[in-house]
Amino acid sequence: MLITADIAKVRRIIQQARLKGKKVGFVPTMGALHQGHLSLVKASNRQSDFTVVSIFVNPLQFGPKEDLKKYPRRFKPDRKLLKKEKVDLLFYPSAKDLYPKDFSISVSEGQLSKFLCGISRPGHFKGVCTVVTKLFNIIQPDQAYFGQKDCQQARIIRRLVRDLNFPLEIKVLPTVRESDGLALSSRNQYLNPKQRKDARVIYQALRLAKKDIQNGQRNPARIIKAMRQRLSSVKSLKIDYLEIANAESLNKLKTIKGKVLITLAVYLAKVRLIDNIILNVD
Ligand code: PAF
Repeated sequence: MLITADIAKVRRIIQQARLKGKKVGFVPTMGALHQGHLSLVKASNRQSDFTVVSIFVNPLQFGPKEDLKKYPRRFKPDRKLLKKEKVDLLFYPSAKDLYPKDFSISVSEGQLSKFLCGISRPGHFKGVCTVVTKLFNIIQPDQAYFGQKDCQQARIIRRLVRDLNFPLEIKVLPTVRESDGLALSSRNQYLNPKQRKDARVIYQALRLAKKDIQNGQRNPARIIKAMRQRLSSVKSLKIDYLEIANAESLNKLKTIKGKVLITLAVYLAKVRLIDNIILNVD
């Protein structure tokens, strides 16, 4: 596995692979890798001839009061995991490599970012769109892989690719969960044992919604009420948002129909966790 922070070198290596007719798959990450990331890497390895992974904790997508400083950085174990997966190239830039001092251009999405996480994390998706644009320009992959857990991010990146005509395909893979349903996230490691146990309630609430819908409930307000009730069994949990929306437009639904996104963000003490499910309803 080649490891570099040098943008010119990355371009050269990838160009060589492309000249050999190789299809390039790309998995952008912020490191602290878990099985969710590795499922993206494995998919890229299956579907591409040359897999590039980036590890970069992007300061632009963290708000001033967020966890940029304490965000887990685990380069050595990450490198080991990626080597084991036989990743071809690891791009590991620093903020200096990506953002010159007088960096002054950014990319913002003006519609889908106005909902959900965009409300409680202003500027977050602008940071994501900017870094992803830069990474796509550097790597120029044929396909790039994202997780369904960050459903709004995946939706916005598809829009970015469509609206800015990036010649690549976005692949969104299912959320990987612990055996008790908790979605894997690099932030799970902030949870103490009690909070980790409490965090199970998040997926329980999503499953409850699914069951209600399967039983014929079509009123989003009723489903949300039942979910809130289930979540309230954990006293220390604070709901940031809990919404039922159209999975494409992210607009709130008045009735359950079509491709339905049930999504939430909660705080367990200071740890912010997100999760969602998507259902196809006739
Ligand atoms: O999902 C993430 O880890 C990040 O938002 C991404 C896409 C790597 C951009 O920094």
